[in-house]
Amino acid sequence: MTKCFAMNFPEIRIELDRLDRELAQLARFSDAEAPAVTRVLFTDADRAARTYLKELFRSASLSVSEDAAGNLFARWQGDQPDLLAVGTGSHTDAIPYSGRYDGTVGVLGALEAIRALKAIGWSPRRSIELLMFTSEEPTRFGIGCLGSRLLCGALDPAVAAGLKDAAGATFDDVRVQAGCAGTLADVRLPVGAYHAFVELHIEQGPLLERADIPIGAVTAIAAPASLRVELTGEGGHAGTLLMPQRHDALCAAAQIILAVENAAKSTGRPDTVATTGVCKVHPDAVNSIPARVTLEIDARDTLLEPRDQVVGQIRDAIDQHVRERDLQASVTLLNADPPAQADPRVRAVIEAACAHLQSSCLPMVSRAYHDALFMARLCPTGMIFIPCRDGISHRQDEYCSPAAIERGTHVLALTLAALAG
Ligand code: HGY
Ligand code: MN
Ligand code: MN
Repeated sequence: MTKCFAMNFPEIRIELDRLDRELAQLARFSDAEAPAVTRVLFTDADRAARTYLKELFRSASLSVSEDAAGNLFARWQGDQPDLLAVGTGSHTDAIPYSGRYDGTVGVLGALEAIRALKAIGWSPRRSIELLMFTSEEPTRFGIGCLGSRLLCGALDPAVAAGLKDAAGATFDDVRVQAGCAGTLADVRLPVGAYHAFVELHIEQGPLLERADIPIGAVTAIAAPASLRVELTGEGGHAGTLLMPQRHDALCAAAQIILAVENAAKSTGRPDTVATTGVCKVHPDAVNSIPARVTLEIDARDTLLEPRDQVVGQIRDAIDQHVRERDLQASVTLLNADPPAQADPRVRAVIEAACAHLQSSCLPMVSRAYHDALFMARLCPTGMIFIPCRDGISHRQDEYCSPAAIERGTHVLALTLAALAG
């Protein structure tokens, strides 16, 4: 990005009641009892949510398109349409039993930012494109940021097409059934596809609330990795197979789960985290020795080297406990991504927008990953964080106050105006 930014910020008003109603309506597209939200890629709830979003985008006079992966694009044509557009957006899929703000604030907040600019008769020089990314969460196909990975070429389309969910359905089958036309190979965008990209998101951590600072300007996004481990023992009768003869897959899994925790603690770095979030037991019967166990492990750090050190220690622990118990194991590295740096020029615009609103702003690392992690491979990228209560997220009691949402949406609108103006 060569041009410096015109920092003339328009005076706008965020229609907070409308935005709040839309967030509440979006939360109703769910497979969980309220206040929890479950909205997994291309389920009926997700497809209904997508239809709702397209209606909202169209009623804001944005031109809506969808790619073969199901990424949605809602475009506000600029006065100079041949210039590179400014992108914004996030995701609306939700992991099981989570909250209503993760991702959705970045999609509906971006829509509200666009409407607020339109309401004052402001028009962008560069087009502004609102993106709703497919499957930011790894819930259905085991890998997060599926849509944004395909957009930036971080995932081979053929590998993506063959990803299977728990029922054995492939991503290709499921996306076609959901009405996504075209081929995944056509999803990829060229580097430089956008002038800049900005994502508004809840912090999903406690730092902003603790510091009593309303806005975070993300400096970097942590490096996520995830593994799937399939352990195979022999199973058998819980009453008749004596202890020395057992090859119990769940006992090995238990030792590996603790090794995952110890590996994260071993770096001595507060930014190193590791979690075994999935543990499936077969045959899952109280009087049958576990024959097979599937684990899914998530390991992260803001730096690559300690993150990879943790992954290595986890692999060593798997080898050790499988050997000691004479089991079989298959380990699949689902993803191991480098961290991303936010573009300092985009961050400067975010900070200038905050200063214009006389709002303090905290430069901070994102320990959660986001689609911005991959958009940063396409164009200069930034993120705006807003506080969520007690830093809680990926839980049904996730909460973000109307004031925080209003402030974040306002900062986003001014940032978009400066980038696209
Ligand atoms: O897991 C994450 O960091 C993101 O919230 N999906
Ligand atoms: Mn999430
Ligand atoms: Mn998210």
